[in-house]
Amino acid sequence: MSIVLTARDLTRYYSVSRGAFSQPGILKALDGASFTLERGKTLAVVGESGCGKSTLARAVTMIELPTSGSLNIAGDEIVGASKKTLRALRPKVQIVFQNPYGSLNPRQKIGHALEEPLLVNTSLSQAERTEKARAMMTRVGLRPEHYDRYPHMFSGGQRQRIAIARALMLDPEVLVLDEPVSALDVSIQAQVLNLLADLQEQHNLAYLFISHDLSVVRHIANEVMVMYLGRVVEQGPRDVIFANPQHPYTKALLSATPQPNPDVKRERIVLKGELPSPLNPPSGCTFHPRCPLAFELCKSVNPALLAHEGSLVACHAVNQPQAETKAA
Ligand SMILES: Nc1ncnc2c1ncn2[C@@H]1O[C@H](COP(=O)(O)OP(=O)(O)O)[C@@H](O)[C@H]1O
Ligand SMILES: [Mg+2]
Repeated sequence: MSIVLTARDLTRYYSVSRGAFSQPGILKALDGASFTLERGKTLAVVGESGCGKSTLARAVTMIELPTSGSLNIAGDEIVGASKKTLRALRPKVQIVFQNPYGSLNPRQKIGHALEEPLLVNTSLSQAERTEKARAMMTRVGLRPEHYDRYPHMFSGGQRQRIAIARALMLDPEVLVLDEPVSALDVSIQAQVLNLLADLQEQHNLAYLFISHDLSVVRHIANEVMVMYLGRVVEQGPRDVIFANPQHPYTKALLSATPQPNPDVKRERIVLKGELPSPLNPPSGCTFHPRCPLAFELCKSVNPALLAHEGSLVACHAVNQPQAETKAA
């Protein structure tokens, strides 16, 4: 095992205004995630919009520092680290966003966009930078003669290839992929996912792959982490999570995902109600108002993430089934 990144109890809270006459509220966008990333392996993070996936991505890429917890990258702790240490660590963790338009300057030739990280972070000559940019273009399936083109001259899939190329220019150890194929047509999604798989193997990269779509995750993840309102509700090996999901939220997400084997019938679980506001989350287990298994204890006590049948699950009904019968 070669672990490149370890997160322990990572949190990120935001202070949010609730109007002129109220105290600002605390929004717990990320409330205690612990995981490791390994070379050549993919941890997938899944959950509905607003559950904290991009907040986690920003913390891991050091775009924002965590509110508490610890984040160790390649042996260095980043919480409380000096500016110098942070500067040295940043190139090791790169990010690809859902919409590459947002991260590519429309007036910059893509060759120059690829060279920019080298210009800022290395002392390579112009000729060396250009050579590296062209080589990287080939590696991600773009033609080197496209060096002088502008982002709008490419398709969505090609632009995502450019964003991936740019993220790889500094030889990172970790790539954070925040919904990297969610904006692409299904046929293009597969091509970009194949490219990511090839690059992972060639560069022995650790991936933190974020998606709201479990059918995408099924193909690329080694480990899966399921989030709900800023908290991890289930976490474990891909095969265990898909074959034997424990948390009622994971089961509901999976039941809404197309089955690879149409002979296996899975009942569609429709969750009650809306996603609550993270600024005013429900008491106890924040999932309880929507949970088909909820009982008294769930309204008052937040369940811990505990080992259960090969994965980690935060659910009273799963971890303390005797409490359920007592309450019934
Ligand atoms: N800078 C911020 N200030 C205040 N609230 C934020 C900020 N960024 C994100 N949030 C809130 O944190 C929660 C999680 O957001 P996000 O991480 O973007 O979720 P996801 O990527 O899973 O859709 C949301 O309720 C969002 O509104
Ligand atoms: Mg997001």
